Parts: sequence; C-alpha cells; structure tokens
Amino acid sequence: MQGSQPVALMAMLILVMTQLLLDERFLSVFANTHRAPQESRGLQAIEETHNNVESDSTDSSNSSFHDECAFARNVPFSNKPPTTTVIVTSNLIPTMPSTAVLEDTLDSLSMLIGLEPNTPIIIAVDGIQPRLDTPENRQRLQDWVSRVRSMFKCHPNVQILTSFVPLHISNTLRMAIQQVTTEFVHIMEHDFPFTKEIDHQLLVNALRDVPELRIIRFSKRLNGGVRNRAPCTRNHTYAGMDFHLIRWSNNNHFTTKKYYDWLLEEIGPVPRAPENRMMAQQTKNCTLYGQYAYGPMNDGFYLHHIDGKRESYNRTYMFNNHKRCPNATAAVPSSVLPWVRCPM
Ligand SMILES: *[C@@H]1O[C@H](CO)[C@@H](O)[C@H](O)[C@H]1NC(C)=O
Ligand SMILES: *[C@@H]1O[C@H](CO)[C@@H](O)[C@H](O)[C@H]1NC(C)=O
Ligand SMILES: *[C@@H]1O[C@H](CO)[C@@H](O)[C@H](O)[C@H]1NC(C)=O
Ligand SMILES: *[C@@H]1O[C@H](CO)[C@@H](O)[C@H](O)[C@H]1NC(C)=O
Ligand SMILES: *[C@@H]1O[C@H](CO)[C@@H](O)[C@H](O)[C@H]1NC(C)=O
Repeated sequence: MQGSQPVALMAMLILVMTQLLLDERFLSVFANTHRAPQESRGLQAIEETHNNVESDSTDSSNSSFHDECAFARNVPFSNKPPTTTVIVTSNLIPTMPSTAVLEDTLDSLSMLIGLEPNTPIIIAVDGIQPRLDTPENRQRLQDWVSRVRSMFKCHPNVQILTSFVPLHISNTLRMAIQQVTTEFVHIMEHDFPFTKEIDHQLLVNALRDVPELRIIRFSKRLNGGVRNRAPCTRNHTYAGMDFHLIRWSNNNHFTTKKYYDWLLEEIGPVPRAPENRMMAQQTKNCTLYGQYAYGPMNDGFYLHHIDGKRESYNRTYMFNNHKRCPNATAAVPSSVLPWVRCPM
C-alpha cells in the first residue's frame, strides 16, 4: 500500500500537468482554425500569420522546439458554446489515399454562413466491406486516415473516428452522433461539397422557432426537381426563406441531435442507408418521415456530388464549374477551417 503512494502521486501530477497543457492548447486553438499547411495551396495569408507568431514565440523561448501549431493560435477565442456539430461520413473510395475529395468537401463548409468558428467537426470513417477487404485496400484507407490526422493535428475541434468493422451509413452516423454534445448537427457525406451559400444562423433560428421544421435538406438539383413520392405537400416560410416538404434523402441535411437519436432508434441496428428506411416509412406519415428542402422553388442547387465511387476525381472540373467561396461581401465570414482558396 505505502509503496504505491509515490506512484499514485506521480501519476496524479502527470495527469494534472497534461491537463493544463491540453487546456492551454485547447483554449488557444479552439477558435478559428487553420489547415495544416503541408497539403494546401494558396497559403499566403496563413503563412503570414504563421511567420508573425513564430517570431513572437522565439522572443520568449530560445529552445530549439518548433511549435508547428503556432499558426493556429493567432485567432480569437469564442466563449460561446457552438450550436452545431458537423459530421462528415467517409468510407473507402478509389481515390484514397488522396485526400482531395475530403479537402474540397470540408472547404465548402465556408458556404454555411454564420457557422461558429469553434464548431466541432467529426469525420466518421466506416470500416471496409468484406468484398473490398484486401491488404491493399486496408493500407490505402490506413494511409488516408494518417494523412487526415496529420492535416488536423493542430485542430482540437476536429475528431476523426474510425471503425474496425463495416457499419454502413446508419451505424457510422450512430458512432458519430454518440460524440455530439451540441443541439444541432449538419450531416454530410465526404463527396458532397456545398456549392451555394446557406444561411446557417437562419436554420438554427428556424428549427428553434418552428416545431414542424425538424430536418432541412439541401438539394443537389434545382428545388422542385426533386421527385416527391410523398402524398402531400406542405410549405413554410421563415424569415423570408422558403421550405417545402420533400422525401427523405441522405444528401446533406441539418437537424437536431434529438432528431437523430429518434431516427437511429426508428431505423434500428441493421446496417443500411437511412434514406431507404425513411422513404418507405414516408408513405405512412409524410410529415413525420419527410424532410424540408431549403430555399424557394427552382432555387439551388446547393450540393455537387463529386461521386467518390469514381476511379478519379477531376478537381479542375470541380473548381471551374462549381462555386467554392462565398461572396467576398458576405456579412459573416464562416471560418471553421481555413478556406485558403476563398479571399476573406
Ligand atoms: C539561444 O541559442 C543560441 C544557439 O544555441 C545561442 O547562441 C544564444 O546565445 C542563445 N540566446 C540566449 C538569449 O540564450
Ligand atoms: C407549396 O408550394 C408549391 C410551390 O410554390 C406549390 O406548388 C404547392 O401547392 C404548395 N403547397 C401548399 C400545401 O401550399
Ligand atoms: C404524422 O405525424 C405527426 C407528427 O408526429 C402527427 O402530428 C400526425 O398526427 C401524424 N399523422 C398521421 C396521419 O398519423
Ligand atoms: C478535367 O476537367 C477539366 C475542366 O473541365 C478538363 O479540361 C480536363 O480535360 C479534365 N481532365 C480529365 C482527366 O478528364
Ligand atoms: C452573391 O453573388 C451572386 C452571383 O454570384 C449574386 O447574384 C448575389 O447577389 C451575391 N450576393 C450578395 C449578398 O452579394
């Protein structure tokens, strides 16, 4: 007993010290964050910040330690708890270990105007399906996960979750939702970047004020072009924004954590795409199992499907044909991640 006391004390000391170190890192980096430079292009603004911080820190310490996350500390800290978590689901695709598809999808979060700078981001990676489970594919996925982890090593608001077994979309989302501590969630797939501005703050207000608007989805077609098998139509206008009832889809959507807890209960543990179950249920009650599309009729589209299942990703095509940056005049620049390709 007595012999274990110093050990226990030491352990506690280490714990407390680690906690303090973590806290400091946490507090200073948790706000506006910046992409680790190694994988990005057009980094001028970030490098300038980086250099400033570096020269400051050499004054206070002459050690040879290089603080590679210094660039992420020079940002205002927000005391307000974030309202929303962004969940991005991912799985093995042919272009891995390239991170280009994920990078461009994450970049497009800049389209969510008003998203809090300290928004938690969960990248939830499914396990490999049996038919694709080869040593080569495991290695590709592992290399991709390593690259993504390195990319975000200075970003404590980004969590990367992985699974050792195939979960499909439903249980990958279950894994992610369990980590959510905010009221709202944006759910998106790794190959569905936003291509048009979305008023995020309006969505938060709308879901708080209008009980029937439980889940909002963003269309990859022009609004109204979405086939709707639901036997009813319904519209809402909130703060000048139109919403109309459509059938359920996995395409990027915004809702509450509470809704997702209900949905995951509703669709059960069977691995599947939630939309299959929800669309089938919608014939029973079109409002309960429906979604509301964001934006007026014929407005859109809000998403581009890169389609990760393809053998290659033509980034040039994506950049030439889809809007990636909000208007420079947008009142509230969103800045969850460094939109190094967007002038701010
Ligand atoms: C800092 O380190 C350099 C190289 O080791 C040394 O030459 C210099 O005197 C040190 N400066 C101070 C203020 O300790
Ligand atoms: C909802 O709006 C659409 C498009 O303006 C219209 O076609 C439809 O009839 C409306 N439905 C209801 C219930 O008002
Ligand atoms: C559909 O669900 C809503 C919300 O739970 C409920 O108010 C409504 O009565 C239901 N409609 C039918 C036809 O069951
Ligand atoms: C990619 O897209 C660009 C722009 O549309 C096009 O010029 C180029 O040929 C495409 N590259 C490939 C390999 O398809
Ligand atoms: C944003 O740009 C589009 C054209 O790309 C324009 O139609 C729209 O008015 C602009 N919005 C603002 C708020 O400047």
